Amino acid sequence: MGGDWVPPGVDLSVPSAARMYDYFLGGKDHFKVDRERAEQVIQGFPDVREVARANRAFLGAAVRAAAEAGVRQFIDLGAGLPTQGHVHEVARPIRPDTRVVYVDIDPVACAHARALLPDAATAVVDADIRRPSDVLDAPEVRELIDWSEPVALLLISVLHFIDDADDPAGIIGAFTGRMVSGSHLAMTVATGNEDHDTSRLVDAYKGSGTGSGGLRSPQQIADFFTGFDLLAPGLVDVFDWPEPSAEQRPDRAIRLLAGVGRRP
Ligand SMILES: C[S@@+](CC[C@H](N)C(=O)[O-])C[C@H]1O[C@@H](n2cnc3c(N)ncnc32)[C@H](O)[C@@H]1O
Repeated sequence: MGGDWVPPGVDLSVPSAARMYDYFLGGKDHFKVDRERAEQVIQGFPDVREVARANRAFLGAAVRAAAEAGVRQFIDLGAGLPTQGHVHEVARPIRPDTRVVYVDIDPVACAHARALLPDAATAVVDADIRRPSDVLDAPEVRELIDWSEPVALLLISVLHFIDDADDPAGIIGAFTGRMVSGSHLAMTVATGNEDHDTSRLVDAYKGSGTGSGGLRSPQQIADFFTGFDLLAPGLVDVFDWPEPSAEQRPDRAIRLLAGVGRRP
């Protein structure tokens, strides 16, 4: 990690999904424990870095689609460490008046994100999305989000850290229940491949500081979009949104399904 500074609340013996993801993306905000666990994931999922980059590219494409449709407020749940193409950087060239609230449970991600906020129309909330009211009642959300106009809710590569017992559909509903017509819901969620044993991989994420909801079926993921119309091309492999990729893909043990829904 750059420098020796460790924010309060960080246990250096516990890996963090946020910092492992930063490692996959080639960032510098991770500790030894994160790198070791990330290498374990790479053993079971050798092209995880490529998938992480595709996931990040999808986030950009989904934000652009929402901004081009006129959305100018975003809530990014499980936003992670600031990396290239943060939501405000993508949306503002299209909608300069964009407001963004970034939410994450990881203290390192929140501290770094806060340090890089460009202005008062962007904010970071350090919260556990398993308690949606902690997010919804946060002063930053009350101040920046006007629920009477469309909102884009982003859940990019975060729902696989939420256990079924924590009611992911209920978490999504706590936000979408407030979202008016024209609002967007964008997510990527991990799904398995029945030809592969994914247990080692799911185990590698256990104890990385969050729940480990694991993998979900395409139908379960589609159900998360209830009340939203999926934009073309629908719920597809993250490499294929918004256009099918020309690349010949390997037979991955795990795929990320990506979709963007619009509230009619
Ligand atoms: C794989 S990263 C994805 C980061 C970013 N959304 C992206 O796709 O580029 C998952 C993020 O979700 C965060 N996260 C996991 N469980 C969470 C929870 N219960 N509440 C808030 N954030 C959570 C992690 O800290 C991590 O930053």
